Amino acid sequence: MSAPAAVLTGLGSWLPAKVLDNHEIATRLDTSDEWIRTRTGIRERRVAGPEESTVDLAVGAGREALGGTSADAVVLATSTPDQPCPASAPQVAARLGLGTAAAFDVNAVCSGFVYALATAAGFIAGGLAERVLVIGADTFTTLIDPADRTTVPIFGDGAGAVLLRAGDAGEPGAFGPFDLHSEGEHAELLWVEAGGARKRLSEHPADRFLAMQGTAVFRHACARMAESSRTVLDRAGWMVGDVDRFVGHQANIRILQATAKQLGMPADAVVANIDRVGNTSAASIPLAMADARADGTLVPGHRVLLSAFGAGLTWGSTVLRWPDLDQSS
Ligand code: COA
Repeated sequence: MSAPAAVLTGLGSWLPAKVLDNHEIATRLDTSDEWIRTRTGIRERRVAGPEESTVDLAVGAGREALGGTSADAVVLATSTPDQPCPASAPQVAARLGLGTAAAFDVNAVCSGFVYALATAAGFIAGGLAERVLVIGADTFTTLIDPADRTTVPIFGDGAGAVLLRAGDAGEPGAFGPFDLHSEGEHAELLWVEAGGARKRLSEHPADRFLAMQGTAVFRHACARMAESSRTVLDRAGWMVGDVDRFVGHQANIRILQATAKQLGMPADAVVANIDRVGNTSAASIPLAMADARADGTLVPGHRVLLSAFGAGLTWGSTVLRWPDLDQSS
């Protein structure tokens, strides 16, 4: 008998109320709406208010994905937890009324959601849990230097979540196979250098913000997402032409388009909500799925490719056939 698969049974999203559009950024920094739109595809993003944290956003998305049901484990993908220690997932589980459910964070930055999905699928395959809530939530605006025009326009805050149940690999909604990788020698291309054990915050306060080498990150992202997508399609036995929708990490619309082009995929397969939310890091893929489901871009039966790339460097991909979530339990 084969191990149970992780099957999508619930989906949720949560965004802070505050909208920050390009025009407002251009009143503060040396940039323009036109530059941001044409270079990134972003028009506006959401920003967590001073009283709003990653846990708050995660609880909003998680509650929607649960839809009044329960889960016996919570995996939270985030690199902006409410405190450096402990992990935020236990607080999310408690706020969702999940009793003493297993709960922990996964930090693979913008690839975090795909890593967390794979981790949850492993829990289900290994019989450790029957229902797992996987949440991607980040408040990257808390890491951004408000004076840095290279990062302020790109990042936004948000959360997205999926509920997984043990099921059969052949049924709609089953995630997998997976492909995951890292390349730590390029950590400095996108990092917050101070605040951890290497560079103490008290001695290096100027290095507390996210620093990004945008052009290099762009190149790595396109190459790795395309490579990983090919690997996972090959493992699934799918041809590129079989993919109806490509839900890639929403980092830059040009990265998504270039990756689709490298794969030989039509531009209209690309699912994009980056214009409204920017780069929400670990929340990006589940938020894009939730928006695409809501506006009818994703419908039951679609063959869907997910691919993410992020700081670390990390990247990973998986596939699923989109299920009818109205019929899920
Ligand atoms: N407004 C106006 N000009 C800006 C700007 C802004 N917000 N940010 C940078 N510029 C300038 C640069 O200073 C540079 O000026 P120079 O030519 O005088 O040196 C010029 O625009 C071009 O910069 P460059 O970095 O080459 O542009 P780009 O086409 O690579 O676009 C990014 C910049 C950041 C949009 C792009 O590199 C990118 O999206 N990278 C990936 C970022 C990412 O996805 N990060 C998260 C990964 S998970």
